[in-house]
Amino acid sequence: METSEETAKESTTVEKKITKLIQQMTVDEKIGQLSLVNSIYGKISKSLKQTIADGKIGGILNEVDVNVVNELQRIAREESRLGIPLLVGRDVIHGFKTIFPIPLGLSSTWNTEIVKQCGRISAREASAAGINWTFAPMLDISRDPRWGRIAESFGEDPYLSCELAKAIISGFQGDDLRNPDCIAACAKHFAGYGASEGGKDYNTTNIPENELRNVYLRPFKAALDAGAVSVMTSFSDLNGIPASANVFLLKQILRHEWHFEGFVVSDWESISQLSVHGLTANNREAAYEAANAGVDMEMVSRTYADHLADLVREERISEDQIDIMVSNILRAKFRLGLFDTPLTKTDRAGNGKPHKHLEAAKQSATQSCVLLENRHGILPLSKKELSSIAVIGPLADDPYEQLGTWIFDGDRDLSQTPLNAIKAIVDDSTEIHFCRAMETTRSKTRKGFGEAIKVSEKSDLIILFLGEESVLSGEAHCRADLNMPGNQNELIDEIAKTGKPIILVIMAGRPLLLEEIRKKVDSILYAWHPGTMAGPAIADLLFGIESPSGKLPVTFPRAVGQIPIYYNHKNTGRPATDESIIKIDDIKPGTPQHSSGDTSFYLDIDNLPLYPFGYGLSYSEFKYSHLKLDKHRIKSGESIKINFDLTNTGRFEAEEVAQLYIRDLVGSVTRPVKELKGFKKVRLRAGETASISFELATDYLAFYGRDSKLITEPGKFHLWVGGCSDTDLCAEFEIIE
Ligand code: GLC
Repeated sequence: METSEETAKESTTVEKKITKLIQQMTVDEKIGQLSLVNSIYGKISKSLKQTIADGKIGGILNEVDVNVVNELQRIAREESRLGIPLLVGRDVIHGFKTIFPIPLGLSSTWNTEIVKQCGRISAREASAAGINWTFAPMLDISRDPRWGRIAESFGEDPYLSCELAKAIISGFQGDDLRNPDCIAACAKHFAGYGASEGGKDYNTTNIPENELRNVYLRPFKAALDAGAVSVMTSFSDLNGIPASANVFLLKQILRHEWHFEGFVVSDWESISQLSVHGLTANNREAAYEAANAGVDMEMVSRTYADHLADLVREERISEDQIDIMVSNILRAKFRLGLFDTPLTKTDRAGNGKPHKHLEAAKQSATQSCVLLENRHGILPLSKKELSSIAVIGPLADDPYEQLGTWIFDGDRDLSQTPLNAIKAIVDDSTEIHFCRAMETTRSKTRKGFGEAIKVSEKSDLIILFLGEESVLSGEAHCRADLNMPGNQNELIDEIAKTGKPIILVIMAGRPLLLEEIRKKVDSILYAWHPGTMAGPAIADLLFGIESPSGKLPVTFPRAVGQIPIYYNHKNTGRPATDESIIKIDDIKPGTPQHSSGDTSFYLDIDNLPLYPFGYGLSYSEFKYSHLKLDKHRIKSGESIKINFDLTNTGRFEAEEVAQLYIRDLVGSVTRPVKELKGFKKVRLRAGETASISFELATDYLAFYGRDSKLITEPGKFHLWVGGCSDTDLCAEFEIIE
């Protein structure tokens, strides 16, 4: 690890190299660095070769053949006039060949080490293909499960998203970006994309600055503090100005307040889409707006290549502005060491030790699953007591679907499915009867139901694998109805009629509606899309080799009508209470319109979510006790030590995610009723007690106030510790000045 002096010296050297290089560049060569061109997957067209040789491309994306990448880098280094190497980008979101759980699943682990390891292994595998830049992590705070891209997010909470952003970036970028197995990260989509209206992708976002700063921008600041090399603008229109032309975001926040020295890349054609938004009349004006706002590199669309030179000639964009954009990109190339080592050694083991990667993928999948229901402790299963098990459903044995969304390079041949893992874990005395029952999760026929009922009737217990195919979440794949697709619910109804115990394992890219389903099954294990090692992970959990330890990073609604519903909401002036809520069926006929029940609730559905943020069961139980603070009054700049005992009061060794929440009771702007400010994942043997401590500095209590400055204010706070956001083990402290 470099000392700060060495880093400073290195940075000065790089800046000198950048200045020297820019002085030699023509305007066309400068503009060439601002173009990110989509590869044609393994082919090298003559025109691509020539454009690179002419110095008119700064980077390529979607090329994963290392020999092709090396040839394109060779051309850039040896045949172009100044020999500037290429950035080579790819969406390496939750794995490259070895696939880890989708980010929402990784987030459910609440385990920064596991998330860091996912980044590290992804970088090792992707860099072996010549990739030096990933378009990840996606850091959009997501409160709307209708939005397909919630699958790619770390969920609804800024603190959890910040911690996991830091972890995965550290994995991607390693200790020194010049190491050949490191890749540059890209914090995306800047910013506020998760607030797309109606949960419909690419839709309008309107976010007040206070909410933008206190919620949506936090993970991006954490990412930049963690050294993320690049930021990607979102497609979305933010408060009337699309992110790819948003001076407030890209100049005021990113450069003036955060002093970001990396580079900004547009999303796919998001600059040319400025005229589709109706912000500009044509691509020429789009190029002007984006360059003026500070988008350094244009992904795929050609507005910069086609119009920037003219805009410079007309002095609408200064050459100094272009030089700043080019410097930001060259700085990344120097940080990546691309000028010294542009080529990728093809003899690299590349994947390192595949079996180690699979072990890591299994561990992350195991820790990502969340146990939502477990009636009469039906799980874990005992092999000895089961002579026959029915394994039913379209997701029980599908090597591709278990990988989830955004797995361009995932190797389905590496996948180990739940069906095979269950067969491997039971012994010969247990018969396994498999029935897919439905061709896809969207099937609407009942023709496979008969077979499903037959195998159920001849089995002691049924394990159902249902949910969503991977294509039903991710980019552009939003759903207005969050029930399980197809007639999966009917399949559950039919199988429930057999009276046999039912274990439901759900694979999905978002929270689904489970209020009715949970009454018909005995246990629900939410696996998200667990990736390559879904099978062994789920089998180990079902048979008690491991206890589930996942906790929800998003709230599960009872109905779509509750959305947006999230734990860190504001109190309002009329919060609902048990007494104030009136139920639609309790209203007597002829009741006059009056304001009874005059609080914030729905007449026709429970006010609380089905499962809250931070929720997840274990095979064991945990007790929180002896909560103590080392002081109850602190000054700004001081910190509080929080200590409590955590006891595993159950019969299983298991892991618990101890969570720390606060509430700022009074603020110059209203504050959420709860905010996550710490978590620790602790493994305890049955009966074991651990003393857990958190240190809470007042900096962690700072928020953006009325003048958009980050402030801490004196006043009273509540503090909770527990295994879920609805914990009630509480204490109080005060900032006195
Ligand atoms: C997509 C996505 C973005 C991705 C990029 C390159 O449209 O919005 O997340 O990184 O294009 O594939």
